[in-house]
Parts: sequence; structure tokens; C-alpha cells
Amino acid sequence: MAEQKESAVKSNKPLSGKTAIVTGASSGIGRATALTLAQAGAAVVISARRNDRLSKIVSDIQAKGGKALAVAGDASVTSDIDRLLEKTLEWKEGGRKYDIVMVNAGRGLAGGTLTSEQSQWEEVYQTNVIGASYLMRSAAAYFIKRKKGDIVAVGSVVGRNISPFSAFYGSSKFAIGAIAEGLRQEVCKYGVRVSLVMPGIVKSEFQKVAGYNEENFFKGIAHMGRLLGPQAIADGICWLLTQPPHVNVSEIIIRPTGQNYP
Ligand SMILES: NC(=O)c1ccc[n+]([C@@H]2O[C@H](COP(=O)([O-])OP(=O)(O)OC[C@H]3O[C@@H](n4cnc5c(N)ncnc54)[C@H](OP(=O)(O)O)[C@@H]3O)[C@@H](O)[C@H]2O)c1
Repeated sequence: MAEQKESAVKSNKPLSGKTAIVTGASSGIGRATALTLAQAGAAVVISARRNDRLSKIVSDIQAKGGKALAVAGDASVTSDIDRLLEKTLEWKEGGRKYDIVMVNAGRGLAGGTLTSEQSQWEEVYQTNVIGASYLMRSAAAYFIKRKKGDIVAVGSVVGRNISPFSAFYGSSKFAIGAIAEGLRQEVCKYGVRVSLVMPGIVKSEFQKVAGYNEENFFKGIAHMGRLLGPQAIADGICWLLTQPPHVNVSEIIIRPTGQNYP
């Protein structure tokens, strides 16, 4: 028994036997995490709207001997979220179950209350808060029955320290941080873990989608030096998921070293 435990710790496939759902997996942090979890032995179910991107990631994982399934859908639409969970439970290679849900699909929006584009407000909340909360609630209900499971919600440093250059978006991340922590308090007695991961500035498609430009963003962060790539966040997530079951890393902030603010 002791020997078995020892070998599990040393295994380079610490997530083998687990099935992980990753939303927002067509790009950036979600893509890097899906690849990392697959490398750690998990069977991964990846979701996003751009199916061509997902197919390529599935092929890349399979080419390395991993297991992956793409289920395209919109993370702000509850019927698409239901479909993602249903398809996962039908997936034979994934064991017709899931153990990990990374609630990552989301988008930024440049500016504060005065300066952000109001026509985008609803989409930001529908994706970052309503859709994310619906997925967290559905996964939590399933995990309670199984008496185990991991929910990893991707928040943001601006969901902890508000900034004028992304205050409206930041408010959606304050909301998801509150919902994740409240959910953790509801489900911890069932052996279910909830982790909130708050990235600092990560270079990805995020900046373009949010509408950041030289004037409203890049000038202000020029002093911060080398920014993060998505892999830094993926590595943090893989680390927290591979802690023993009685250890819940409930919050983690990962910033570029030179990021003084927010
Ligand atoms: N980059 C940063 O500096 C930073 C910092 C803090 C937190 N975050 C958070 O980290 C998460 C990932 O961001 P990222 O940096 O990896 O950005 P990204 O490269 O733009 O990736 C965003 C992902 O979310 C998906 N997505 C967006 N809206 C969606 C929707 N309605 N339905 C389904 N999928 C949707 C996108 O896929 P499709 O377009 O194919 O649907 C894409 O896969 C987000 O929640 C973001 O708020 C990012």
C-alpha cells in the first residue's frame, strides 16, 4: 500500500483515470490547460464556439496518445451547457463521467463604467457570470452525488482589485469570485473542491476581444516587463488539481513578476 502511494506520487500521469471538462479551450488559457491536463493523463472534453480550433486540439492530443473529445457550444447558452455535460456522460473513452470542470470561457471588455462599450455589457455578464454560474451549479449537483470532484473557476486579478481600465469586466470577475467561494462553502462537506484561479496579465486573444489598444491599455502596462503566457496559468491549475483530496487550494493569484497593479 505504502509502495503504491509512493509510485502514484512519482507518476508523470497524476491525472490518469480522470476526465476533465475545459470550457474556452479553443485559445489561450483554456487551450494550454486542456493540453497540460491531457499530458498529465486526463481524458479531456473541450468546448468553445470555434469547432475548427477544437478539432485541431483533439488531433494534437490524440497524436500524443491522449484522449480528447470536442463539444462545440456557446458558454452563455444554458442548453449548450447541458449538451456539453450530456455528451461528456455519453463519452465511452472518458468513462462516461467527469471529475474536473474548468469554468474558463469568458471575455474581457476595455474600460470602466463611463468608457466601456455598453452594447457589450450583456454579453460579458451572460458569458462570464450567468453561463459560468450555470455550469458550476450543474457540475456541483453532479459532484455532490459522487462525493468528489473539482470545479476550477477562472476569475481575474481585476476581480480582486478593480482598475479603471477594465472596471466593467472586473465587476463580472468579482461576481464569479463571490459565487465560487459561496459554492465552495456549500459543497465542501461533500468532498467537492472549488478553486478560484485569478490570472494577472496573460498574453492571449483576450486583449483583442476586449478592445485593448495602445492608449487604453498597453501604454499603462509597458513598465511591467515580461507578461505571462497561458502556460503559467495551466501549470498552476494542474498543480492544484494534483494535491491530495483533503487539500483544496481555494484561491490562487498568478501574476507576471513585474505586474505591480492591479
Ligand atoms: N488574458 C488575461 O490577461 C486574463 C486575465 C485574467 C483572467 N482572464 C480570464 O481567463 C479566461 C480565458 O481567457 P484567455 O486569456 O485565454 O482569452 P482568449 O485567448 O480570448 O480565450 C477565451 C476562450 O473563451 C472562449 N469563449 C469566449 N466566449 C465564449 C462563449 N460565449 N462561448 C463559448 N466559448 C467562449 C473562446 O472561444 P471561442 O471564441 O472559440 O468561443 C476562447 O476559447 C477568461 O475567462 C478571461 O476572462 C484572462
